[in-house]
Amino acid sequence: MMSGYVSENVEIAAYTALIAAAQAAGDPETSAACERILPQEIAMAKWLLDHLPDT
Ligand SMILES: [Fe+2]
Repeated sequence: MMSGYVSENVEIAAYTALIAAAQAAGDPETSAACERILPQEIAMAKWLLDHLPDT
């Protein structure tokens, strides 16, 4: 459970960096794809954290 939470936060950092890189490179398609995925990673990290105490 803790490893999953760490992994989700690594993904959040990665997608955040990818969005910035895609914007800097003038690649709106990649930026848009990452912006669609990022909220899912944030939601999963929150779900894992919320359920960690019960686990
Ligand atoms: Fe994920």
